Amino acid sequence: MCGIIGIVGKEEVADRLLDGLRRLEYRGYDSAGVASVHDGAIERRRAEGKLANLAKELVAEPLPGTTGIAHTRWATHGAPTTSNAHPHATQEVALVHNGIIENFKPLREELIARGRHFDSQTDTEVVAHLVSELVEQGASPQEAVQQVLPRLHGAFALAILFRRHPDLLIGARLGSPLVVGYGEGETYLGSDALALAPLTQRIAYLDEGDWVVITREGAQIFDRDNVPVERPVTLSGVSGAMIDKGNHRHFMAKEIYEQPVVVAQTLRSYLRRMENQVALPDMDFDLAGVRRITIVACGTSYYAGLIAKYWFETFARVPVDIDVASEFRYRDPVLEPGGLALFISQSGETADTLAALRHARAERQIIAVVVNVPTSSMAREADLLLPTHAGPEIGVASTKAFTCQLAVLAALAANLARVKGRLSPEEEAEIVYHLSEAPAAMNDALSHDEEIEAMAHLIAPARDVLYLGRGQDYPMALEGALKLKEISYIHAEGYAAGEMKHGPIALIDDAVPVIVIAPSGPLFEKTVSNMQEVQARGGKVVLISDAEGIAAAGDGCMATIEMPRVHPLIVPLVYAVPVQLLAYHVAVAKGTDVDQPRNLAKSVTVE
Ligand code: G6P
Repeated sequence: MCGIIGIVGKEEVADRLLDGLRRLEYRGYDSAGVASVHDGAIERRRAEGKLANLAKELVAEPLPGTTGIAHTRWATHGAPTTSNAHPHATQEVALVHNGIIENFKPLREELIARGRHFDSQTDTEVVAHLVSELVEQGASPQEAVQQVLPRLHGAFALAILFRRHPDLLIGARLGSPLVVGYGEGETYLGSDALALAPLTQRIAYLDEGDWVVITREGAQIFDRDNVPVERPVTLSGVSGAMIDKGNHRHFMAKEIYEQPVVVAQTLRSYLRRMENQVALPDMDFDLAGVRRITIVACGTSYYAGLIAKYWFETFARVPVDIDVASEFRYRDPVLEPGGLALFISQSGETADTLAALRHARAERQIIAVVVNVPTSSMAREADLLLPTHAGPEIGVASTKAFTCQLAVLAALAANLARVKGRLSPEEEAEIVYHLSEAPAAMNDALSHDEEIEAMAHLIAPARDVLYLGRGQDYPMALEGALKLKEISYIHAEGYAAGEMKHGPIALIDDAVPVIVIAPSGPLFEKTVSNMQEVQARGGKVVLISDAEGIAAAGDGCMATIEMPRVHPLIVPLVYAVPVQLLAYHVAVAKGTDVDQPRNLAKSVTVE
């Protein structure tokens, strides 16, 4: 993770670098720093903790210079202290890095043996020394970088500043994203187009292994064999306005509330209301020929995939394997050529998911990607790109991206069912109708916000919370538990309701709230039986169901949350709302940092 930005500018850069970091803070926020060249010397300002600390530091001691680099960190090697904060520097060079240099230990030992002194515990500092050594021996910046890059194993996006070349920066990427921005007499580097949005919309995406020399006049890009290459310049279309919270206290609340709108926006590109059909973008492979689907994702996106597994199997009768990305590659999965591998990601940059995608490509799978950032690495490597239109998601806990993923996955499942001959036009029309109703039902779910806020104090004192659900509500239980632990730091577990008796029931007492997700329907009775097993042991239940379900089983619950009665296909979209709101209000009641919870980051670009 980590976010990086660099500017070779006409004017002072410190403020603009800081602004860029604000837009990158979602990538990590445990320390930050900037460096520039001024009067023939490299100057740095770094600070532990949130960006506000670095901003104070820059007020106390302004950083002059028209060429600079900056970094916001999510620690991998070395604690989040000031000395481990980037940029890392020698007298000759300073650099910022996103990724992990996996072979840093032998490189560090080699450098120490040559008499180099290290100031940090990071993996990154070896790169600064390796480049610096060559520069000190008389190499040009280009020669030095060209020699060092092949020595680095792992993943990196780098931006490097040179004391003796105040009008130049060098960037490089392998595994971690890096873009070049073209301005008027200025050139930029950044982890994403969002970081550069106020500076320019003209963006070139570097390919794997590319490195680039940027000056005020422009950029010269080289591929991994050091051959000069051109990369297309596109208009990013990302808004330069600072993303704001509207009239909400947190981005997470704003994003929960945006869901009816962004889900409707997403559905618009997958539903043809007039024809009562589900539509996918054009593809150059035969969807009807797909015999097996492999879904791979991380975190909340993985839970969207788990829900979709029910849909692909129920509607299209296509068997689905599903894995978290960090496990997928290393278990050497059996992948028959021609299978469909489906990757789900908000950012499109999660390192584990991207590595899994490349593994699947090498195994001759067709690559489909459900992604929220259409310019991301995953989007660019897809055979079938299925964008969600959630807009930028800033809160670290994913909310609107999740429900938009569900909307796309439901459309994909219906489409697959149709081409497989398993969905009649009437059934398809019914699906289109119910999906179109989802935004209104989500609005209805949002109207319970105040009630949920009022009951948050019942959960806030708990040390452990259990979430139970059956069928497609089981992954929702997992997502509920993830949301709660991410932002309130309460230990929470999601369990298949019927599996509770095989272990977690031992935890039940009156101090462990149990959240039961049970819309009325064929599985309701069974889930309610499990709920009664909890109540019989003194457990305190919060039941999330519809009016019918609450009338049948609400008595004896600590609290109930009433959802509208909806078609099973859109249950996950609607029930996501109370699950998110509950976690949100508990976190607010506990006073935690809702949008930037400790130790987490929005997109994890290290394996
Ligand atoms: C991080 C975030 C999660 C997210 C996961 C996958 O862990 O904190 O909220 O679900 O990454 O991210 P992706 O961008 O691939 O969906």
